[in-house]
Amino acid sequence: MKIAYGKLIKESLKARSSSYSPYSKFKVGAAVLTSGGRIFTGANIECASYSITICAERVAAAKAVSEKHRKFSAIAISSSGREFAYPCGACLQFLYEFCDDMTVFLVKSEKIFEEYKLSQLLPKQFHL
Ligand code: THU
Repeated sequence: MKIAYGKLIKESLKARSSSYSPYSKFKVGAAVLTSGGRIFTGANIECASYSITICAERVAAAKAVSEKHRKFSAIAISSSGREFAYPCGACLQFLYEFCDDMTVFLVKSEKIFEEYKLSQLLPKQFHL
């Protein structure tokens, strides 16, 4: 599975270029790897009514789930800006819906990235 991670990182960088972010100018791309080995990508989509903006992670997750790929093993997230951008709490909780735990790559370039587990970024999740 390690081999797929290089591709996942590349796909997240490619997805970032599809960001629709005229208000913040902050581009984010995400690539979700499913347990079946499929990759689904997404980018952040902003709206003049700011609060209904959708994060890249949830766009990628929604694309996977709406095609019945409901189990994730990893996600790569690429953002513009010099610092690594950590996924927002809403996205972390959303990703938990589709895994027990998963690998999360924060990506600046193909060579510059950090690796976490979702459980490190959100140790306490909401459960019903
Ligand atoms: N954004 C994401 O795409 N993912 C996150 O986890 C946090 C923030 C987007 C939303 C908005 O378009 C821009 O980054 C600035 O907040």
